[in-house]
Amino acid sequence: MCGIVGYIGENCASPVLLDGLKKLEYRGYDSAGLAVVENGEVQVVKTKGRVADLEQKLQESKPLSGTVGIGHTRWATHGAPTDANAHPHTGGNGMVTLVHNGIIENYIALKSMLETAGYTFVSETDTEVLAQLFAYYYKGDAVAAMRKVMQTVRGSYAVAVLTKDCPDRILAAKKDSPLIVGKGEGENFLASDIPAVLKYTRDCYLLNDGEIAVLEKDRILFFDSTGAPLQKEIYRVTWDAESAQKGGYKHFMKKEIAEQPKAVRDTLSPRIVNGKVELPELHLTDGEIRAVGKIHIVACGSAWHVGMAAKYILESLAGIPCETDLASEFRYRDPIVREGDICIVISQSGETADTLAALREAKRKGAHTVSIVNVVASTIARESDDVIYTMAGPEIAVATTKAFSAQLAVVYLLGLYFARAVGRLTEAEEQAKCASLLELPAQIEELLKLDEEMAKLARQFSAAKNVFFIGRGLDYAISLEGSLKLKEISYIHSEAYAAGELKHGTISLIEPGTPVVAIATQEALFEKTLGNIKEVRARGARVIALVSGEHKEVSEFADEVIHIPQADATVTPSLDVIPLQLFAYYMALERGCDVDKPRNLAKSVTVE
Ligand code: F6R
Repeated sequence: MCGIVGYIGENCASPVLLDGLKKLEYRGYDSAGLAVVENGEVQVVKTKGRVADLEQKLQESKPLSGTVGIGHTRWATHGAPTDANAHPHTGGNGMVTLVHNGIIENYIALKSMLETAGYTFVSETDTEVLAQLFAYYYKGDAVAAMRKVMQTVRGSYAVAVLTKDCPDRILAAKKDSPLIVGKGEGENFLASDIPAVLKYTRDCYLLNDGEIAVLEKDRILFFDSTGAPLQKEIYRVTWDAESAQKGGYKHFMKKEIAEQPKAVRDTLSPRIVNGKVELPELHLTDGEIRAVGKIHIVACGSAWHVGMAAKYILESLAGIPCETDLASEFRYRDPIVREGDICIVISQSGETADTLAALREAKRKGAHTVSIVNVVASTIARESDDVIYTMAGPEIAVATTKAFSAQLAVVYLLGLYFARAVGRLTEAEEQAKCASLLELPAQIEELLKLDEEMAKLARQFSAAKNVFFIGRGLDYAISLEGSLKLKEISYIHSEAYAAGELKHGTISLIEPGTPVVAIATQEALFEKTLGNIKEVRARGARVIALVSGEHKEVSEFADEVIHIPQADATVTPSLDVIPLQLFAYYMALERGCDVDKPRNLAKSVTVE
C-alpha cells in the first residue's frame, strides 16, 4: 500500500524522507516522490520506479537543503504507475502540495465540479482531486480547509499537506488509513507506518479517524473533526523495526487476514452507488451481455477457486452458462470460444504466465476479455479489454488472503451487473443484494473474532497427516480454498471434495481420527451435506463443521461447530473463508512453518 512520510525540523529534510520511504518499501509500491520547502517555494521531485530511482533523480537535480518536506511511495490504484501520477500532487497553482494514501470514492464527481470551477488536472489520480479541492477551500486557514475537504470527500485517506504561504508547517489528517506523528526534540515526523520514524523517535501519536494534526518544528497541535483542540496521549513504541513493519502482527499473512474488511469495503463501496452496481470499467452494452453465449473463467490456484465460486454465482444470478478452467489447461486444450463470448481472467499479480497465455488465447478467438486484477498496470491488466481492479493493496504473504476476498467481491458485483443487464434482477432486488454486500466488511470483522477459537482448534488438530474438506455448491468452491490454504503453509496433506463425490473412492481414506472440515453453509443443500457429515463420522472422522445460523442438530455429528453469520447464500464464501484462513495459519504456526514464505512457492508465478 502507499506510504507517507513527513519531516519538519532543523536538519536537511530529503535524506530523512528518503530513509523513511525505504523503511516503507515492504508495503509494495511502484513510484516515489517528495516535496521539500526551498526558500519559500515547494520543490517536487517524483518518479515511477523505486526509491533508488528517486534518489538518483535527486542527485541529478539541484540539491535540496530545505528542512520541511513530505514524501510518498505510491501503489497505483487510479492510473498507471507514471511520473505524472506519482505523488506529491499540487493544487491551486502550487499553493498546495499533498500526498495521500487511500481511495477517494467520489473523485469523479468532485473532479467535474472543480473543472467547472476552472481547475485543471495533469494526472489520472484521485489524489490530485484532493489537492485541488484543498486549494479550492483554502482561504488561509489550513485546518478549516482540511475540515471542509473531509466533509466533502467519501472514501479512505491519510494525507499530508504543505501550503506555500505557511512553509513551516505540515498538516495531516486521516480516515480508514493509518497515520502516525513521531515526536522529536526540535523536530517532528509524520508517517503512515511506525517503521519510518523508529530510527528517530519511539514517541508517537496515533491519529484516529477524523482527527487533524498540525506539525511545527517545536510543537504538534491536534484538532477533532469539529475543529476543537485535542490533547492526545503519547504511544511509546516498544517493538523492533521488523515487527513494526508488520503493524504489530507476527506475520504478513495475519496482517493481511485482518485487512480483509477494508479490502472488501474498498473494492465494493465505490462501485455501489444508491443501491445499484456501477462498473464504468466494463465496456459491454446490455445488448452485448444479453447476446453472450458463454462466459469462460480462467485463473490459477486460489484465483481459480474464486473462478469456481464465480461459475455458481454468475449462473444463478445472471443465467448465463459459465465454464471455469485452470489457465494451464485452457491454454492448451483448444477451447471452444466464440466471437462475442466473455472471458474473465482472475489474477492478484496480473503476471501469472498461464493466466496471461489463457487471456491471449481467449482474445485471439474473439472473446471480450475482462480481468480482475490487484496490481495496477500489470501485464494482464494492460492486455485485457476491460480491467476491474481489486482494491486489496499489496499482498506480501505468499498465501493469498485479502486479494482472494477482494476478487470474490468483484465477482458479486459482476453477477449483479450481468443479472440486471439480462433482466433477471428488479431494482428492488438489486437494492437488497447491494445492501447485503455492504454488510460484508462488518460480518468479516465479526468472524475475525474467531481467532482464539481457531488457534485452539489448530492445537488439537496440528498432528494430522491428512485433512479432508467437503462441501456442496459454493461450499465446495470454498472447500478447495480452505484445503489449499492449509496444505501450502502447513505442509499437511489435504484434499477438497464435492461432498457428494467422497463416497466414490476417497471415503476409503477416512479412518478413525481423520479430520474432515465440512462446510455446510448453503442452506438449500444443508440436509445433503449433513448426510455426508454422518457418513464420515460413522467411519471415525473428527468433524469440524461450518454452519450458517443455529442448526443445533449438527453438534450431534460434529466434534466442533463454527457458526457463520446468516447472509445471502451468494456471499457466504466471503464469510466461510475467514475461519479457514485462520485455521490454516494457526496449523502452520503450530508446526513451526515459515508462514509468509512457504517452501517451493513464489508470490508471482511468471513461468508455466
Ligand atoms: C495460493 C496462491 C496461489 C495464487 C496463484 C495465482 O495462496 O496465492 O495459488 O492464487 O498462484 O496467482 P495470481 O492470482 O497472482 O495469478
